[in-house]
Amino acid sequence: MRLSGTLLGAGLILAAAAGLLAFRPSTDDPEAEIVAQDLELGRTVYAVRCEICHGVDGDGNGPAAASQDPRPRDFRRGWFKIRTTASGQLPTDADLARVITFGMPGTTMPAWENVLTEEEILSVAEHLKTFSRRFERESPEPIPIMAGPGSSPEAIARGAQLFVGEQAECIKCHGEMGRGDGPSASDLTDDFGQPIVPADLSMPWLFRGGPSADDIYLRIKTGLTGSPMPSYALVLGDEELWDVAYYVDSLAPDAPPKQEAFLLAAKVDGSLPISGDDAAWAAVPESFFPLGGQVMREVRNFTPAVKGVWVQALHNGSELALRLRWHDRFQDPNDSFDVEMPAVLAENDERPYFVFGDSRKAVNLWHWEAADVLLEEQNAHGVGTRATQSQQDLVGQVEFANGEYTLVVRRALNTGDEEDLVIPSGQFVPIAFAAVEGRSEETTDSGAIGSWQLLFLDEPTPALSYIWVPIAIALTAGLEWLVVRRVRRSTSA
Ligand code: HEC
Ligand code: HEC
Repeated sequence: MRLSGTLLGAGLILAAAAGLLAFRPSTDDPEAEIVAQDLELGRTVYAVRCEICHGVDGDGNGPAAASQDPRPRDFRRGWFKIRTTASGQLPTDADLARVITFGMPGTTMPAWENVLTEEEILSVAEHLKTFSRRFERESPEPIPIMAGPGSSPEAIARGAQLFVGEQAECIKCHGEMGRGDGPSASDLTDDFGQPIVPADLSMPWLFRGGPSADDIYLRIKTGLTGSPMPSYALVLGDEELWDVAYYVDSLAPDAPPKQEAFLLAAKVDGSLPISGDDAAWAAVPESFFPLGGQVMREVRNFTPAVKGVWVQALHNGSELALRLRWHDRFQDPNDSFDVEMPAVLAENDERPYFVFGDSRKAVNLWHWEAADVLLEEQNAHGVGTRATQSQQDLVGQVEFANGEYTLVVRRALNTGDEEDLVIPSGQFVPIAFAAVEGRSEETTDSGAIGSWQLLFLDEPTPALSYIWVPIAIALTAGLEWLVVRRVRRSTSA
């Protein structure tokens, strides 16, 4: 009571001071003029850059807000996720500037570092503070933190214990493998009443507040106010917080795996694997392809649930096999996946539109659907035009465990079906992937999709040609020696 009374008093004083400033002729006080200019700048930046999502009144209801998940923040409560302050407290000015600068990965909140100047960022942060009276009353301070002692196998092992243990129960929400699929994951809502899911800890590049161990330590310690992600400041000691942070940090690299120039299908002898856990896959390199929302056509989806797919490929001269792995927190009958290739390869490398083809150029779809564990070949020439092919040539197998699907699909390179692409070797073949998470009411046309990638079926070099390699090296070396000798001679002459 006493505290809030004091705060209220301080608020009144501040408000009065603000009123005084406003009435003072600005020319008298250059500092007040700077403040007024900054506020004016902040208001302008907000109107031009932020209002469309966050709304004129900062209520998160801008004209573009409707289709977004998570929704743009309502600033009126003073609930902020990315802070250095204790749970529930306001962020510091530096916290606000940081989150505006770097944005919130995995959401539509952009990074403004290459768009706004530092002055504009500080000014717009100042303007945000006008949406909640709490900023007048409270003066947030960073909580005491401990410098990271450095990661080690021992720290990671202790962190792993804490992650599953009863004290922290991270596993309840984040799941055994950290993919955001724990037993409590399916019915979480945020403090605004919107459904929310636990972060997939194997994709730290999508963390709202950054992927580093330092970021993770702060998020666990302070919690993400407004979301179900609690603060552990009163549950775990600083050493323990670091152990858990190092464990989470050890689950995945900070950035998505570097994208290869193309997806190589190595050639093997004999039959191709059909099951996802066949030992044959162990030696095959895996490529990661990010998937995103398709926003050019209805139905737009800015942040679809599936964020990417890991792909391996093998062929044996007559068949192609793909092993596809993607994360999906909730197994659902409406989950589905598509592998997409052009129905024919154009001479000029012109490709169909990557969102399931276009009126002039059709695509082949290798379609998998959880409902009846159905695997079928389809053709499409644009959204909403899928048709099941009359001749079916696909075989495959799917597994689901710990928030991850593993699908193996196999098809003959030349099926003899005129609707099918004859998949050539020694040539680049456009290939794309699309995934639907049924639980978030995505449909086959509004799920996650990636742009065209290139598949390349390797043709092993005939054994004889290897003989030429040492010969070529010897010849080059010989030539070089001759040249060097010539040069030496001419310089010594
Ligand atoms: C395209 C929509 C969009 C635009 C434009 C946008 N934001 Fe956001 N912003 C979001 C969304 C969505 C969130 C909520 C993300 C979440 O809760 O995980 C958010 C959250 C925030 C937060 C909360 C950070 C935290 O720690 O919780 C701040 C601050 C913010 N935005 C500032 C701005 C500023 C300043 C601008 C303009 C310079 C801006 N935003 C423009 C979509 C947008
Ligand atoms: C009650 C459920 C719940 C528990 C328990 C929980 N989390 Fe979370 N966690 C969430 C949710 C929900 C999010 C996503 C918040 C968002 O998207 O804004 C999240 C997000 C995160 C993030 C990402 C932060 C960022 O910057 O986006 C990390 C890291 C994390 N949690 C780690 C942990 C660890 C470690 C524990 C145990 C010490 C834990 N969580 C316990 C629900 C939980």
